[in-house]
Amino acid sequence: VSVPAECTVVPVRGEHPYDVVVGHGLHDRLPGLVAGATTVMVLTDPKVSRLAEAVADTLRPDTSRVEVEVLAPGEQAKSLDTAAQLWDALGRVQLTRSDVVVSVGGGATTDVAGFVAATWLRGVRVVHLPTTLLAMVDAAIGGKTAINTAAGKNLVGAFHPPAGVLVDLDALNGLPDAEWVNGMAEVVKAGFIADPAILDLVEKDPTAASTARGAAARELVERAIRVKAEVVSRDLREAGLREVLNYGHTLGHAIEQVEHYQMPHGHAVSVGLVFAAALGREAGLLDADSAQRHAAILRSIGLPTAYRADAFPELREAMRVDKKSRGARQRFVILEGVGKPAILDDPAEELLDSAYAEVAG
Ligand SMILES: NC(=O)c1ccc[n+]([C@@H]2O[C@H](COP(=O)([O-])OP(=O)(O)OC[C@H]3O[C@@H](n4cnc5c(N)ncnc54)[C@H](O)[C@@H]3O)[C@@H](O)[C@H]2O)c1
Repeated sequence: VSVPAECTVVPVRGEHPYDVVVGHGLHDRLPGLVAGATTVMVLTDPKVSRLAEAVADTLRPDTSRVEVEVLAPGEQAKSLDTAAQLWDALGRVQLTRSDVVVSVGGGATTDVAGFVAATWLRGVRVVHLPTTLLAMVDAAIGGKTAINTAAGKNLVGAFHPPAGVLVDLDALNGLPDAEWVNGMAEVVKAGFIADPAILDLVEKDPTAASTARGAAARELVERAIRVKAEVVSRDLREAGLREVLNYGHTLGHAIEQVEHYQMPHGHAVSVGLVFAAALGREAGLLDADSAQRHAAILRSIGLPTAYRADAFPELREAMRVDKKSRGARQRFVILEGVGKPAILDDPAEELLDSAYAEVAG
């Protein structure tokens, strides 16, 4: 007999409010989110296609047509080819404005599913069931969707908030520890910009924080979700506040580019966090202990904190190009203290050099 599991509901406010529900076995929540649909298209990563089939089965009694499309694995799914195939598939099943797209997978799946839902008929409902830590605490929340094109990663996309996000912790059962740790970079980031309790949890038991099966897993997931939900509730379209979520990402993105996206996102962000902390310290804004805490915490859970010493000119150039493409000045998110993010505008080159010395390995 299955007892309804205890859920945590984190509301995301804004023009199109929705809930992020965290718990175990949340399939019973799905019918409510697809109410009114006669057709549901479930898009899934091959690693979790069994879960997607189970999800489809829970919808079948009340929905006339439920289709499951298994996408290419991981990042490969975020392509124009996949999007085009999915638009064809949606046309084939005649998915209408009152119908729903459901994603079951990691951030790549939630991104492409969100993008296809945003563009099909100029926007149909999408519900995300994220299955990696990164997707649970980051990609599935906030309404940013994207695919990759020849021009670069995530340059084509749309803002399209989901109708709901179901974070089923059971989905993490088969997740390799390496994928969990990759997502932990964003969790630790959330700790530094807004919720020091996350940092305390990791410091208390770094081994437990390094696996989805650790005792603190649920609390880490929930706390990081609250941080992201709060920020995007106040700023969906990156008018200002949302920029704090970029903490560690300016150098992180540059490293990803230099590595031709072969380095896991969380690893690049981890090095970027140590750099950003050093930048805050070098600018005289962050105390040395809080800066040092970044590397200690990230290292304790197996994330890298150093990158090639000779790479800085290349990284600097990548950051400049990134800046140009966003038409902004070079702005770095730094900390004035734990939980106190601020912006450092166009810092002097010497400051950037000495901050890089901190991660130069
Ligand atoms: N839209 C946003 O705001 C946002 C934010 C952060 C990241 N992203 C995007 O998210 C993507 C990264 O997310 P990701 O790390 O989840 O990547 P991913 O979707 O590629 O998943 C990582 C790997 O885990 C596998 N996998 C997924 N769920 C699993 C499970 N439960 N058990 C075992 N294996 C599983 C996948 O097959 C893949 O190999 C990037 O494309 C990034 O651009 C988007």
